Amino acid sequence: MSQGWLAGPGSALSGEVVVPGDKSVSHRAVMLAAIAEGSSRVSGFLEGEDTRATARILGQLGVRIETPSANERLVHGVGLRGLRACAEPLDCGNAGTGMRLLAGLLAGQGIESVLTGDASLSRRPMGRVIVPLTRMGARIDSEPGGLPPIRIHANNALQGIDYELPVASAQVKSAVLLAGLCAKGETTIREPRSTRDYTERMLAAFGWPVEFRPGFARLAGGHCLRATDIQVPADFSSAAFFLVAATLVPGSDLRLRRVGMNPRRTGLLEALRLMGADIRIERPEEQGGEPVADLRVRHSRLHGINLPAALVPDMIDEVPVFFVAAAQAEGTTRVTGATELRVKESDRIATMCASLQRLGANIVETPDGAVIRGSRLSGGEVDSHGDHRVAMSLAVAAQRASGEVGIADCANVGTSFPGFVELARSVGFGLQATG
Ligand code: S3P
Repeated sequence: MSQGWLAGPGSALSGEVVVPGDKSVSHRAVMLAAIAEGSSRVSGFLEGEDTRATARILGQLGVRIETPSANERLVHGVGLRGLRACAEPLDCGNAGTGMRLLAGLLAGQGIESVLTGDASLSRRPMGRVIVPLTRMGARIDSEPGGLPPIRIHANNALQGIDYELPVASAQVKSAVLLAGLCAKGETTIREPRSTRDYTERMLAAFGWPVEFRPGFARLAGGHCLRATDIQVPADFSSAAFFLVAATLVPGSDLRLRRVGMNPRRTGLLEALRLMGADIRIERPEEQGGEPVADLRVRHSRLHGINLPAALVPDMIDEVPVFFVAAAQAEGTTRVTGATELRVKESDRIATMCASLQRLGANIVETPDGAVIRGSRLSGGEVDSHGDHRVAMSLAVAAQRASGEVGIADCANVGTSFPGFVELARSVGFGLQATG
């Protein structure tokens, strides 16, 4: 049996929290450093299973990566075309970001590679990266339906493309841009809604000319990446569980330190504020090209809203915990435009609705979201379906339940938030692992 949790009302949340490094930034930092000229130090690296899998794969591809201390990597870049073939499959674990970005990185490398993943990743769509990479000239095989494992054939003659993304996805955008580094000519991306722009920002930090603005990115092949040091900010998506919990638990007053505040990530902040949350931004500054700030959150009563669909891409990973906030708000909240949640580590609309219903919430699943009426939550037995963000969202819900909540299948929290249970307990969560 994989690890479960027992969660229930704790005390008011107080004190200070430093959440681990950003997952998106950590993946990209080691990938770009790996194909740069020279050595780059990555500080604040997320020691999660997803990002460690990416670092391990880069090692299999011939990149020397040292770990001078926890949360730090020293990456000795091999240059743009310096990756070496590895006869073994490259195991991305649970990480959609790892697999999709590596597919782009490897597409034009001139080496054969096979990317595999765990049971959850093996059900996630890779056609969305295979289609544009194939248009660039790559040859990629997959299981039927575009599922992993994917085999990338040796090719060093990619062509740039002008690609309009059918879905707003930073992973797809990034895969195409990374392939564009090794392609002839220009690669252009147009997005239906702007998504996180870490790849673009980081390429610029490594000295690669890239033109970008919300919804648009363009670069040309034929340059080189120059090693640079990267400071990874704390992950807003991990901070989100504390923002919602402290908002919901009466008497709470919590500070989150040095949280990444990239505007393409902070949609939840805006959504919670529309509902009446009390979250203040303190000491904002730039840290390695990314905005960071401390967040002070105090308990407040929330009211339901129609969540603007335009906010969804900026809070795509926070929608599960937003459902919890809505389930405790007065009145009705409607979430639309969130179909992408159905192809995450689990079908997050289905898993969150089923679990919250088991706790007595009045929540109705819709094709692209949910209608949630604020109500009292009871104790009960729920299942995260091996989805880290569902597990942590349910732990937040349990803080407002009238009894104990057993949450099954939580081991995957280690993919994005190692140490969550201990950190949450240290500020007042009622939460323990049950082995
Ligand atoms: C990510 C982009 C998002 C997000 C994922 C990380 C990234 O996925 O859900 O957790 O690092 O680019 P999509 O771009 O597929 O929406």
